Amino acid sequence: MIPAAGRGVRLGPGAPKALRALNGTPMLIHAVRAMAASRSVSLVVVVAPPDGAAEVKTLLDAHTLLPGGATAGSTDFLVVPGGDTRQESVRFGLDALPPGFDIVLVHDAARPLVPVDTVDAVIEAVRDGAPAVVPALPLADTVKQVEPASEPGGPEAVVATPDRSRLRAVQTPQGFDRAALVRAHETVTDDVTDDASMVEQLGLRVVTVPGHEEAFKVTRPLDLVLAEAVLARRRL
Ligand code: CTP
Ligand code: MG
Repeated sequence: MIPAAGRGVRLGPGAPKALRALNGTPMLIHAVRAMAASRSVSLVVVVAPPDGAAEVKTLLDAHTLLPGGATAGSTDFLVVPGGDTRQESVRFGLDALPPGFDIVLVHDAARPLVPVDTVDAVIEAVRDGAPAVVPALPLADTVKQVEPASEPGGPEAVVATPDRSRLRAVQTPQGFDRAALVRAHETVTDDVTDDASMVEQLGLRVVTVPGHEEAFKVTRPLDLVLAEAVLARRRL
């Protein structure tokens, strides 16, 4: 499932983020191709901007879905409208998921360049029995916990420095036993920033596999520059 319903506020004015172009092709199409490249992926559910489902369907039909001119012969596609939050969009996608799919990967449209090996590693770890799997990387920066500033832009008091060697930055696709993810969405009502944290709240085991630098999230304008540079390097 590819949540792609966000506006992309941090990217600045323009089309919804998933529909913005990278080297001439919408970010969402890159993300769909990245997932469909895995032989294990047989259905891609795209969660589209609420008012953009028809446009996304047209886009998917218009683009050949695998690089090199091949079509994604064994992959089916479904488009559903998203919600106000990422969490709600994922729930709408889950609601639309037909029976018969026991493993679900949730992958941000905003991570268009994830390598297929990362996708396959996540799937394999779920097949090996983990109810939830996240691709994770060590942090380059030291992280500080702060108290909120008393005025916007004012100084924040640092209250703790967690041991960096035990922190990980997590990416997508995150992989799940379908029943566990559905139960998490039925049970957890807190706002979360990733899907695995909901499964954590159920007390189930969440494990990591190695993430990949190229699975970075396109969030701010500089990330577009980096993504296009990665695409250019891949063509060499
Ligand atoms: N997403 C979604 N539905 C929402 C919000 C986000 O499907 N209501 C998706 C985005 O399209 C994106 C992924 O969740 O693929 C990760 O979210 P993020 O990077 O935060 O994207 P946006 O919410 O679009 O960006 P911003 O927070 O800057 O507005
Ligand atoms: Mg967002």
